Amino acid sequence: MRPFSFHNPTKLIFGRGQLKTLPQELEKYGKRVLLVYGGGSIKRNGLYDEILSLLKNQFILFELPGIEPNPRLSSVHKGVELCRNEKIDVLLAVGGGSVIDATKAIAVGAKYDGDVWDIITRKDEARDALPLGTVLTLAATGSEMNNSSVITNWETKEKYGWGSPLIYPRFSILDPEFTKTVPRDQTVYGIVDMMSHVFEQYFHHTPNTPLQDRMGEGVLRTIIETAPLLLEDLTNDEYRETILYSGTIALNGILSMGVEGDWATHNLEHAVSAVYDIPHGGGLAILFPQWMRFVIDENPARFRQFAVRVFHVEEKGRTDKEIGLEGISRLEEFWKSIGAPSRLSDYKIDDSKLELMVEKAMARGKYGRFKVLGEEETRAIYRMAL
Ligand code: NZQ
Ligand code: ZN
Repeated sequence: MRPFSFHNPTKLIFGRGQLKTLPQELEKYGKRVLLVYGGGSIKRNGLYDEILSLLKNQFILFELPGIEPNPRLSSVHKGVELCRNEKIDVLLAVGGGSVIDATKAIAVGAKYDGDVWDIITRKDEARDALPLGTVLTLAATGSEMNNSSVITNWETKEKYGWGSPLIYPRFSILDPEFTKTVPRDQTVYGIVDMMSHVFEQYFHHTPNTPLQDRMGEGVLRTIIETAPLLLEDLTNDEYRETILYSGTIALNGILSMGVEGDWATHNLEHAVSAVYDIPHGGGLAILFPQWMRFVIDENPARFRQFAVRVFHVEEKGRTDKEIGLEGISRLEEFWKSIGAPSRLSDYKIDDSKLELMVEKAMARGKYGRFKVLGEEETRAIYRMAL
């Protein structure tokens, strides 16, 4: 294990009926609330009305609707302006990862003299932020309990992750009931995303991580067992609850204690969705198996462990690499079986903008820790995924 310190200040409020705690959580931070949400799913499933009736007598509410999936800098700018003009005390994100990520950037932008893009691109760092809380409606990113955000500048076709301890949500309310209306395709993307978060933290070279390994494998097994059942029964309370909890655990820092994650595949995916605006989970389903094949020689024993423990691949006297490769194929088959894409061509992406994707992926220099990737390796993985 590597030395580590762990501090996650987000108050997680999980389970049926927990929305009722919203006023008492919010009132700790002020009266003037900016409600941030997406394209209307919360209006269609009744959550918007419930929130309004809980808050309208006690708070002064302002709204920023229309946060897009792969949230854009232009929406963040709108939010920053609203916060300044209306003297907002606290932000409330109601939605999926995109709404939460945009809210995190608004929280920092509202307290920053320059353009928040400078913080997102790491030219400067956040020194202050408005407090924010969330009501999560989609199990996927873990943004509800982490200090990361991913923002797209659509004009320059750049999509970057950034982070700051100031953007941990103060509280996050997770009621599986509100995830029941997530359509099948978004449910699948969320499942792929949370599994990918485990992989990013599982493939490392740090010695002596037996508990970290078992925790990651436990999250993966739980998702693999639950996902097919949920996809047959999208409004099932228990399956929704299990997947919602899995998504938070997969990226709230618990699996990263004492290890150094890789995160190359997320960088590869963000470059694809910056250029083509595809769903994050869809891009990961295509790229992760290819990254795994590309890097397996760095540590075949680790891939063998993954294959045997997560997909119960039989060893039959074969080499670590042979067993590992079968594990990767089984992962690819599993994702296909739940309806995830497996090639860039599934999104009609060919090699015409491949060099642009390589350039975007390399914008912050070489990346990845399990295997450091440069321009040539990036190009090779994209080619494998066409
Ligand atoms: O916009 P609305 O109308 O709300 O519809 C959304 C959106 O169209 C819909 N949806 C959400 N909850 C729903 C629902 N539809 C029906 N019923 C509900 N209860 O789902 C669509 C996708 O929403 P989005 O928020 O974009 O999905 P997700 O949570 O997967 O977030 C993806 C974004 O998060 C970033 C990704 O790159 C992408 O930009 N990530 C953020 C991370 C983080 N902050 O830690 C880590 C991740 O690796 C990821 O990169
Ligand atoms: Zn992700």
